[in-house]
Amino acid sequence: MAYDLTDKVVLITGASSGIGRACAIEFHRAGAKVVAAARSLDKLEDLAGEIGGDRIAAVRLDVTDASEREAAIAFARERFGRIDVLINNAGWASFASVEKMPDEHLDRMLALNLAAPVRMTQAVLPKMLERRSGQIINISSVVGNQAIPRMTVYSSTKAALTSFSTGLRMELRRTGVDVIMVAPGSTNTPFFETAASVDVNAVRVAKTQYTPQRVARAVVKSSRRRRPEVTLTADGKAITIMRRFSHRLADFAMYHFAKYGMQSKH
Ligand SMILES: NC(=O)c1ccc[n+]([C@@H]2O[C@H](COP(=O)([O-])OP(=O)(O)OC[C@H]3O[C@@H](n4cnc5c(N)ncnc54)[C@H](OP(=O)(O)O)[C@@H]3O)[C@@H](O)[C@H]2O)c1
Repeated sequence: MAYDLTDKVVLITGASSGIGRACAIEFHRAGAKVVAAARSLDKLEDLAGEIGGDRIAAVRLDVTDASEREAAIAFARERFGRIDVLINNAGWASFASVEKMPDEHLDRMLALNLAAPVRMTQAVLPKMLERRSGQIINISSVVGNQAIPRMTVYSSTKAALTSFSTGLRMELRRTGVDVIMVAPGSTNTPFFETAASVDVNAVRVAKTQYTPQRVARAVVKSSRRRRPEVTLTADGKAITIMRRFSHRLADFAMYHFAKYGMQSKH
């Protein structure tokens, strides 16, 4: 049965930019009530103003901070009564070889890309289980399916998020709560400028970039169709399928893909 998004309450992390921002617009367009969360409240308020009406609300949320998570979830429940869909979207990358990866970058990626989605899920899940209805949507990445060199740690956090989605889906079988993993490929957002560049320049890694709007439409479609896993972009799909047949071939392809798309600083 399709998931009807009309009047569903959707909490989106990292909604101030890129894919999260586009998801806020597309889920609102699909009839949902949207709680847009991120650290940049000014950008969220601009977004709420742009969307307009009373089915959009903005809340400050640093997903790595326990008290902010609690406050944002309480805000969403006060404002709209419940949370039907959680989209774990906030994320960040450090472009660095493993050898050069600073401790604080490792800690930040683990906290933001992995621990925060787990903790957000733990916070919203009990009430979804009570209602026997809801969705947890995790925005992972193609590089969670096949790691890319010099984004090895970032890839590892996304592989862990993908694995978290798979395990959680099995735990929640027949509970009425869906778990959906969306793996975008290279997408045209500020992600590459916001990323840290340690020993490699974070240049765009694909010619065939999706727009964030296209990714957001795919997320809405996955939600409606309750699709457990979706991989996006032609390159992303190709490398994911390739890996099923030959790890060596997938390594070779991703190595050259990275070589073309990233520049060493030395
Ligand atoms: N762009 C791509 O090519 C691509 C490909 C595959 C997967 N992804 C994934 O897609 C997701 C969205 O990325 P994007 O491309 O849209 O990048 P983006 O434009 O840089 O957006 C990242 C979002 O995360 C938020 N954020 C960062 N740290 C946060 C924190 N501590 N607490 C709450 N929010 C935080 C940022 O908002 P504030 O700074 O306001 O907090 C921002 O809204 C990420 O998980 C990323 O890993 C991106």
